[in-house]
Amino acid sequence: MSETVSHSDCTIRRAVADDLDALVALEHASFNTDHLSPRQYRKHLASATARVLVAVDRIGLLGKALVFFRHASPIARLYSIAVADRARGRGIAKALLAAVEEAARAHGCRTMRLEVSQSNPAAIALYERYGYRRFAERREYYENGEHAWRYEKAL
Ligand SMILES: CC(C)(COP(=O)(O)OP(=O)(O)OC[C@H]1O[C@@H](n2cnc3c(N)ncnc32)[C@H](O)[C@@H]1OP(=O)(O)O)[C@@H](O)C(=O)NCCC(=O)NCCS
Repeated sequence: MSETVSHSDCTIRRAVADDLDALVALEHASFNTDHLSPRQYRKHLASATARVLVAVDRIGLLGKALVFFRHASPIARLYSIAVADRARGRGIAKALLAAVEEAARAHGCRTMRLEVSQSNPAAIALYERYGYRRFAERREYYENGEHAWRYEKAL
């Protein structure tokens, strides 16, 4: 997605190097395990097979989503989505989800897959609300031992 998308008082666009510090801060504020390092983010920002999208307002970063593509694969993988505490409940995750799905479609993907912790009811509700179907489980998927559900959606 090269263009920006406006959503109420926020804009969704591709992340750039200047977003790095805020992305890492949001990562640590949002997850208690499996944090992406600044180095990993730097790599993903420059990669043709990753897309980092951010939702921003005039004050700063509201949310982010990271999706991976694989060469010649019709399946995209939504690695993570997170919204800052101050911005939750305003449809920002919904907008980020729509934007990563659009990016995946533009990349030629037909399916989005993701893992979500079984102890994350808010995220499970988000994905089920927007058409994701549970199809498998990954035991002890996370570094802290939590199990994941696998979900997918036809794009
Ligand atoms: C999960 C998360 C991304 C939701 O972000 P958000 O911007 O508040 O979500 P939205 O306002 O776009 O909500 C969209 C839908 O998600 C669901 N949802 C979101 N938060 C929810 C909650 N706390 N409880 C139940 N359902 C919730 C609802 O179905 C909601 O639709 P509705 O408003 O029509 O009911 C956010 O809570 C977060 O960043 N959590 C920490 C990081 C995380 O767990 N990420 C997901 C795993 S990678």
